[in-house]
Formats: sequence, C-alpha cells, structure tokens
Amino acid sequence: MKRGKVTVVGAGHVGESVVRALAEKDIADIVLVDIPQTENMPAGKSLDIMETAPIYGYDAKITGVTSYEATAGSDIVVITAGLPRKPGMSRDDLLNTNAAIVKSVTEQVAKYSPGSILIIVSNPLDAMCQVALQTSKFPKNRVIGMAGILDSSRMRAFIAAELKVSTENVHAMVLGGHGDTMVPLPRFSTVAGIPITELLPREKIDAINTRTCNGGAEIVKLLKTGSAYYAPAAAAVEMVEAIMLDKNKVVPCAAYLDGEYGISGIFVGVPVKLGASGIVEVLKLKLNEDEKAALMKSASAVKELCGALK
Ligand code: NAI
Ligand code: 2OP
Repeated sequence: MKRGKVTVVGAGHVGESVVRALAEKDIADIVLVDIPQTENMPAGKSLDIMETAPIYGYDAKITGVTSYEATAGSDIVVITAGLPRKPGMSRDDLLNTNAAIVKSVTEQVAKYSPGSILIIVSNPLDAMCQVALQTSKFPKNRVIGMAGILDSSRMRAFIAAELKVSTENVHAMVLGGHGDTMVPLPRFSTVAGIPITELLPREKIDAINTRTCNGGAEIVKLLKTGSAYYAPAAAAVEMVEAIMLDKNKVVPCAAYLDGEYGISGIFVGVPVKLGASGIVEVLKLKLNEDEKAALMKSASAVKELCGALK
C-alpha cells in the first residue's frame, strides 16, 4: 500500500499525540510543523517518535520542521496550532488570537497543499473552522472540525462505566457546537443496538449528559496547566484514517451547513460520512422537538461566537 502524506500543524500536546498515534497506523508519512521561535522542537519530537518505529513496527517517515516547504502536497492537514486560554484573557481575546494563528497557518497550508483536506482542532473549534474555510477557499467538504468524535467518546466511556459493559458495545451521538451548549443525544446512543433510554433511568442519563458537556473542563480542572490531548488526538486520528482509507465512516464532526437541520452558514457538529473526498454526506437524524431546540440553541451560540470574529 502506498502511504499518503499528512501534515500536523502545532507540535504541542495535541499535535505530538496525533503524530504518535498516527505513526503507529502506518498509513501516512507525517510532517510536524511549529513556529520558528520553538527552533528545533518539532524536529526533536519527530525524531524521538520515529525512533519508536522499530519497536512498534511501522515504516512511516516523520519529519519536524518550522517552515512549510516540506509539507507540500499533503493529502490531509491537521491544524492544532493555537493558544490555550490564560488568566486575564477573555473568550473574545482567545477567539481572535487563535483566529489570527489559524488564518496564517491556513494561508501557508493552502499555498503548499491546495488539494488537501483540513481537519481543524484549534479552539474555539467551530469558529476556527469558519476561519479556515474562508481563508483557504476550499470547498466545504474539505474543511472539517474535530469535536464530535471526542465528545461522543467521552459519553461512550461514561455509559460503559455506568452500565459495566465493554466500551466496544457502546455508541453515542453528540451534536452541536463544541462548547457548553453541545447536544448529547441519548435516543441515538446505544449499547449493542439498544438505546440507553431503555437501559438507564432519567437521572443517570442526565448526569452522563452533564458530565459529557463538561468533559473538557473536567480535564482542565485536573491538569491545571492545559487541556486534554490523548482523547482529542485519538479522535483526530480516527478522522485521518477514515479519509485516508476511504472508509465512508459515519462519525459526528463539525461541518459547514447549508440548510441541513435548518442551519446555514456556520460549522456545527452533525453526523457525517467521512471518505476520500472528506465529508461525503451529512446524515439527517429525525430529531424530536426538544432535540431540535437544543441543536438550534447550540447553533445560535456558534453564530454569536463567529460574529465576534474581527
Ligand atoms: P499546546 O499549547 O500544547 O500546543 C499548541 C502549539 O501550537 C504550540 O506548540 C505552539 O507553538 C503552536 N503554535 C502557535 N502558533 C503557531 C503557528 N502560527 N504555527 C504553528 N504552530 C503554532 O496546546 P494543545 O493542548 O496542543 O492544544 C492545541 C489547540 O487545540 C488549542 O487551541 C486547544 O484549545 C485545542 N483543542 C481542541 C480540542 C477539540 O476538541 N477541538 C481538544 C483539545 C484541544
Ligand atoms: C476539550 O474538549 C479543550 O476542547 C478541548 O478537551
């Protein structure tokens, strides 16, 4: 099998974890990029990861750089560049600081890999997808946000723990923006095909929903110095694999909506089919009135955030 080429921008916690997990899949050569002020850091991390290859048994090549020439012709680019929120910074400060970073990164990526598919990870996620779409001018199927797989994986882990079943038996669906208003959907969350609404009492489901919505904050509170990276990286790698292997895998991702679910002109988490062309299709769930209202509320929060982009 011919390996593809994946660039990961941002060699911080999430970026290096994506490279580590993706390398072991052995489906793509990888280029890791960070800003020059970090000098040889991306090269050091790449070399360290590549020295695990004989142990894990993969042959993918990993290169760490501080400029974009080596990224040319990438099939997929995962953008994790951006700052986490610091004390004294407002949400809008972070929004516009990261928007400037994502804009400058996307300009370089679009120049060197004009045919690539972008997977955006940087926060605030849904607004950063908007910046990447506008900057790259790529078609909407080639700009995809990572959040739903992470949020659903958290929900799956909590359901499995509550019901004492294998995580492999559990599927979950979390839609909406990647923030406080995200929408866990218990009716579409199952254990071996059985909706959890038939397996758990209302108060247990409510507790799982709340913990899912606060999943990122729960980790920040424990780590104190940053946010989650193992599960976010695993989620991004699942997206890369689905695209690279043309799996047509159905997963929740942030997609630019054009009327689907009654939402237009913004990125919102919805179930999509991921294949070689990126988003192959947005799947339409039959939501009930409460679910629809929660999704619209979340979409309004995303719209408001995007409205604060300078
Ligand atoms: P981090 O601080 O460990 O790493 C960020 C990296 O980006 C740093 O190495 C920094 O030098 C680099 N960077 C900054 N400006 C850059 C530029 N112009 N070009 C290239 N690299 C640049 O942060 P971490 O934990 O890796 O998180 C990265 C981003 O991902 C954050 O915005 C975080 O909020 C977001 N995130 C999103 C998730 C999601 O579900 N969508 C989950 C986890 C993190
Ligand atoms: C998370 O959900 C920080 O967005 C990140 O963990």
